[in-house]
Amino acid sequence: MTTVTGAARVAGVTGWPVAHSLSPRLHGYWLAHHGIDGIYAPFPVAEDDFAQAMRGLARAGVRGVNVTVPHKRRAFELAHDLDAAARAIGAVNTLLFHDDGRIEGRNTDADGFIANLADHGVDPAAGPALVLGAGGAARAAVHGLLAAGAPQVRIANRTRARALALATDLGDRRIRVVDDAVRLGLPGDLALLVNTTSLGMAGKGALDVDLARLSPATVVHDIVYVPLQTPLLAAAGARGLRTVDGLGMLLHQAVPAFAAFFGLRPAVTTDLRNNLLEVLGT
Ligand code: ATR
Repeated sequence: MTTVTGAARVAGVTGWPVAHSLSPRLHGYWLAHHGIDGIYAPFPVAEDDFAQAMRGLARAGVRGVNVTVPHKRRAFELAHDLDAAARAIGAVNTLLFHDDGRIEGRNTDADGFIANLADHGVDPAAGPALVLGAGGAARAAVHGLLAAGAPQVRIANRTRARALALATDLGDRRIRVVDDAVRLGLPGDLALLVNTTSLGMAGKGALDVDLARLSPATVVHDIVYVPLQTPLLAAAGARGLRTVDGLGMLLHQAVPAFAAFFGLRPAVTTDLRNNLLEVLGT
């Protein structure tokens, strides 16, 4: 057990609600593992209180926070400075409170998404990708894939207008908006299929897909991690396709945030993953 002193570095996660967040467990694991004099706390903050609460945390010497639902857009608006990923995605998942009073907004989701694929030996440059969904998670995935050299990224979403808005905002010639019905007959030329919709999540409806025409080389990735083995991944696995579950992205997006808060770049290890799987009950 690491002793916390009066000089401890303090960071945390803010959301509403925040009790379900795995981030305290995740950052707490690294703090203990490295014997760092630090605390990573949950900060439940209601929507209307967000700006005031963040300024208060900053004034109280907190180094920064991770930002989750429903505050990612508000955090974007609050920040004085934004990194390139936050600007492209239009959302912030990490706020850093600097000594001079400036609040910096970063988005580590795209890097986490790509680092997780790399960890699984997946090269986004290998061929076309199809991203299902057009919410914040899709924006991070598409931005990450383009930055990592994907030759083409197709987007299919129930609400086509949202997919078109994503394509316009990211403004890259390699993006194609395709009909959502593509799910019911997935094409054979995909190197990567990514589900960023909430379908397949425990308590939500199923994602209707037909994997029959996918090439044996297609990697299927679901960013949903509750359950870890989604129906999509189970179906892909049953066809002998390579699959990547959603827990890795959560672990990898936390790495740069931890480094910014506590000054040490931690590793994503099997032991850490097993530690979190215990909480997820899988
Ligand atoms: P996040 O920021 O986590 O991506 P979000 O912005 O709420 O969350 O996006 C959720 C995604 O899941 C969207 O692409 C949404 O489609 P719409 O843009 O049409 O809303 C998709 N989604 C959620 N429920 C769905 C359903 N029942 N059928 C199809 N798509 C669904």
